[in-house]
Amino acid sequence: MSGRAAGKKIFITGAAQGLGAAIAKRCAAEGAAVALADLNITGAEAQAAEINAAGGQAFAFALDVTNEAQWIQALADANAAMGGLSGLVNNAGVAGGAAGVEEMELAAFRQVMSVNVDSVFLGAKHAIKYLAQNQPGSIVNISSIAGLIASHNTPAYNASKAAVWLLSKNIALYCAKKGLDVRSNSIHPTFIDTPILDGFRGMFGKEAAEAKLARQVPLGRIGAPEDVASAALYLLSDESRFVTGAELKVDGGISAM
Ligand SMILES: NC(=O)c1ccc[n+]([C@@H]2O[C@H](COP(=O)([O-])OP(=O)(O)OC[C@H]3O[C@@H](n4cnc5c(N)ncnc54)[C@H](O)[C@@H]3O)[C@@H](O)[C@H]2O)c1
Repeated sequence: MSGRAAGKKIFITGAAQGLGAAIAKRCAAEGAAVALADLNITGAEAQAAEINAAGGQAFAFALDVTNEAQWIQALADANAAMGGLSGLVNNAGVAGGAAGVEEMELAAFRQVMSVNVDSVFLGAKHAIKYLAQNQPGSIVNISSIAGLIASHNTPAYNASKAAVWLLSKNIALYCAKKGLDVRSNSIHPTFIDTPILDGFRGMFGKEAAEAKLARQVPLGRIGAPEDVASAALYLLSDESRFVTGAELKVDGGISAM
């Protein structure tokens, strides 16, 4: 198959919907084989079926990204199904709801940290050996603009996404030091139109909520999943072969202010 990601074999977490599904579809359309992993296996299977029906090559795997044994199994299964692994997208994440640092329960804080950060650690820990067999390899971690800019009522989300930012650089330097051509970078989106915004839409109504978010963005709109998928495709393809340890902001200009 031809395309910007031809020959790539990419494992994507949280791919049952939202950004993960968009990244899987974009990479498959550009010639990659994709493994869609999610807690929601039914959703991942449905997305994989759509990709296969469109002529792509996709597989679905059940995975709770906080569970090390499941990571080991899912990566081994994906490696066998695709005949290798050359890309990993750590995308699964949760927002965790809004609460001030005095109000948030420790259990809720730990849950967000576990899904958003343990996932990236475990994914890299167990995928690098496969990526090393299929160099050049690429790890893309979906952080957030909230990992670079804080707000007053998302302590766990801010802390977890900032951790993903620097963990990505750590992984980049680790692989380089080992002499591996395996790159690691983070993407930092602002508000993107996915189900993760549903809680906020529920509070204000869809149109009012989206307008409220759009007013904070210099470009005057929230982003589309494809905007993040394009950034991920670049970092997963060999077009970014000299880019590692970098952060790519997909934020309509918010962080320029
Ligand atoms: N949409 C945005 O506005 C936005 C902005 C910045 C960053 N992000 C980040 O992008 C990533 C994807 O977000 P989205 O908007 O597509 O969210 P989403 O809620 O639409 O999708 C998240 C997916 O992750 C899966 N998931 C959740 N916990 C999991 C677990 N423990 N194991 C495996 N899968 C799990 C869910 O089942 C779901 O399919 C997240 O890391 C999020 O923090 C999103």
